[in-house]
Amino acid sequence: MQISPSILSADFANLEHELDAIRSADWAHVDVMDNHFVPNLTLGLPVVEALLKVSPVPIDCHLMIENPDRWAPPYAEAGAKSVTFHVEAANDPVTLAREIRAQGARASMALKPGTPWEPYAELLPEVDMVLVMTVEPGFGGQAFMADMMPKVAAVRESVRRHGGEVWIQVDGGVSASTIEQCADAGADVFVAGSAVYGADDAAANIARLRDLVRGHTHP
Ligand code: DX5
Ligand code: ZN
Repeated sequence: MQISPSILSADFANLEHELDAIRSADWAHVDVMDNHFVPNLTLGLPVVEALLKVSPVPIDCHLMIENPDRWAPPYAEAGAKSVTFHVEAANDPVTLAREIRAQGARASMALKPGTPWEPYAELLPEVDMVLVMTVEPGFGGQAFMADMMPKVAAVRESVRRHGGEVWIQVDGGVSASTIEQCADAGADVFVAGSAVYGADDAAANIARLRDLVRGHTHP
């Protein structure tokens, strides 16, 4: 069970300090948005390179961008330990995942809420993680979509059948009141933006989320 706080809800003027505040987390989740794949613009490779130099935890890049086939591998090459691309945007997800892995990073594929799981299940041998979005990507602080839990369960079932060690991440509206249903459905990596950075003590918020999912295990 791993916690990956999203710095989208952090103070962008003090990112080194904000990363230090989540040193008890497993990852730092960095949302890259290009204003095309999603209607919002955040940061890109030069900022991620700067974050990599100061982050006390490995960086989990969530790329909400067009043409990840071209733009995603450089994040792995720069040193991000996990790189997630959206299946809706990738032209050749198999080649892309292989390129990310060849750079020494974990390769991960993300699905928007409206994207069904079944057509992508055959890609499982190529990835290390599946991200099931629990909000429409683009903004922090949105309401959790509990109706995505059956999709999380379907991914968990595919992973079980496939037999490999593939993590299942949820992102969007994950908080103390929603994290347990995610774990029950089969998720094991939890992204939380506003629930970690929204109230002052980020470390206490991480500890609380961890406590809530402690003991949940997935065969
Ligand atoms: C949304 C981003 C999320 C966002 C989550 O498109 O992918 O990572 O930061 O924020 P919360 O946890 O506030 O919903
Ligand atoms: Zn994200």
